[in-house]
Amino acid sequence: MTTNIAVLVSGRGSNLQSVIDNIENGYIQNAAIKVVISDVEDTYALERARNHGISAIFIDPSDFSNKQDYEKDILEVLKDNDVDLILLAGYMRIVGKNLIAAYRNRIINIHPALLPSFKGLHGQQQAFDYGVKISGCTVHFVDEGMDTGPIILQKCVPVLEGDTADSLSARILEQEHKILPEAVKLFVEGKLKVEGRIVVRT
Ligand code: GRF
Repeated sequence: MTTNIAVLVSGRGSNLQSVIDNIENGYIQNAAIKVVISDVEDTYALERARNHGISAIFIDPSDFSNKQDYEKDILEVLKDNDVDLILLAGYMRIVGKNLIAAYRNRIINIHPALLPSFKGLHGQQQAFDYGVKISGCTVHFVDEGMDTGPIILQKCVPVLEGDTADSLSARILEQEHKILPEAVKLFVEGKLKVEGRIVVRT
């Protein structure tokens, strides 16, 4: 059986690319990205999808008077594509409760810090400004909170002497590109079970 994936994006889409590549090179098997949805027009992420023959759609949030209606549209696209798993890969919006309820423990986000530290926007910059010596990235299921859902995988990244927020971000991004595909592979293989807020490998 194939796991049908939708990826929600807002920007450059390098994490999207890492999942595309790892499906194409066979690391992730029995999975297909059916659709990429962006809330921003003309993102590079949409172009990346089209370059790989993946349906790429812009849904303009400003066409809707509230999040619920906007996500109703998204839900229709997901239904049309028989989507089993949603990835948030640089998607800059908080997911609403209806979408979460429809895909409980089937929405995965990548965050560029070691949660529960440095939630929200610019996690790398927040960590850098705080002066931590170790940061990293986290892949987690999405719940109603902001970056609070059950953690699937984390990777540590050292902050080095002479680092800037940009150089730290680049080092973290390299690890994001590893743990997001790894988490997708585990999900697709049915190896992730959520018990309370703990993700258990089965
Ligand atoms: C990544 O750092 C990701 O962790 C964060 O947004 C950034 C998206 O980058 N959620 P990209 O669009 O995948 O290149």
